Amino acid sequence: MVMNAILNRKSVRKYSDRVISDADLHKILDAGRLAPSWVNVQPWKFIVVKSQQTKDLLSEAAGSQQQVKNAQVVICCVADLEAWSKVNFGKVLDQRGVDEQTKNAMLNSSLYNPAILGDYEALLRSVEQLTYAVAYMTLEAQELGIGACIVGAFANELTKKDNSFAQKVKDILGLNEQHVLVDFLTLGYEANTVQVNKLRKNFDDVVFFESL
Ligand SMILES: Cc1cc2nc3c(=O)[nH]c(=O)nc-3n(C[C@H](O)[C@H](O)[C@H](O)COP(=O)(O)O)c2cc1C
Repeated sequence: MVMNAILNRKSVRKYSDRVISDADLHKILDAGRLAPSWVNVQPWKFIVVKSQQTKDLLSEAAGSQQQVKNAQVVICCVADLEAWSKVNFGKVLDQRGVDEQTKNAMLNSSLYNPAILGDYEALLRSVEQLTYAVAYMTLEAQELGIGACIVGAFANELTKKDNSFAQKVKDILGLNEQHVLVDFLTLGYEANTVQVNKLRKNFDDVVFFESL
């Protein structure tokens, strides 16, 4: 089943007017929420955008990419660096029933807590975790027959493009300096069916056994 979704998924950039039900949108978001993450820290937030005004702004931030403007829904996928704070990370460890001594050791170890190493490492790990959630959401959308496109080319801290624009987007979405907007996941039913075309490197070019 998962392989079917993987084989048939493609980036869908043209959408019909058909509305995505709240139940289906909830399933897609839940697929992201349930994704695995480093020590289960879940450093992500998902902001659902349906307002045309905000979608227009997001599209503009993405160099006028039309799928952002025309999507039924845009899920703004945010790396949440606050998740690594000792309080927030500590809550996750408490939920697991980790004892105080182990908890403190984990919170203060760079092996478990990248924030110990600095902002760059925390960002790197947060983006890494968020990627799983985004992937899960695209596969759930595929299962539900809903088209999706991950959009990463827009003004933000990662592309270092149009800083004032990036800030404007952050302000509209209510984000602070601990939040990095990494991807838009644009969603909608495909307007006209486009053939799946898996342009990929060959298996043997990317897979190795025992050594490169
Ligand atoms: C992190 C990420 C960022 C992406 N950003 C964009 C983007 O800004 N605009 C776009 O049209 N497609 C974007 N894509 C989609 C890729 O171009 C697409 O996944 C790739 O060409 C393979 O095609 P497929 O998804 O149809 O299999 C992005 C994909 C990923 C994973």
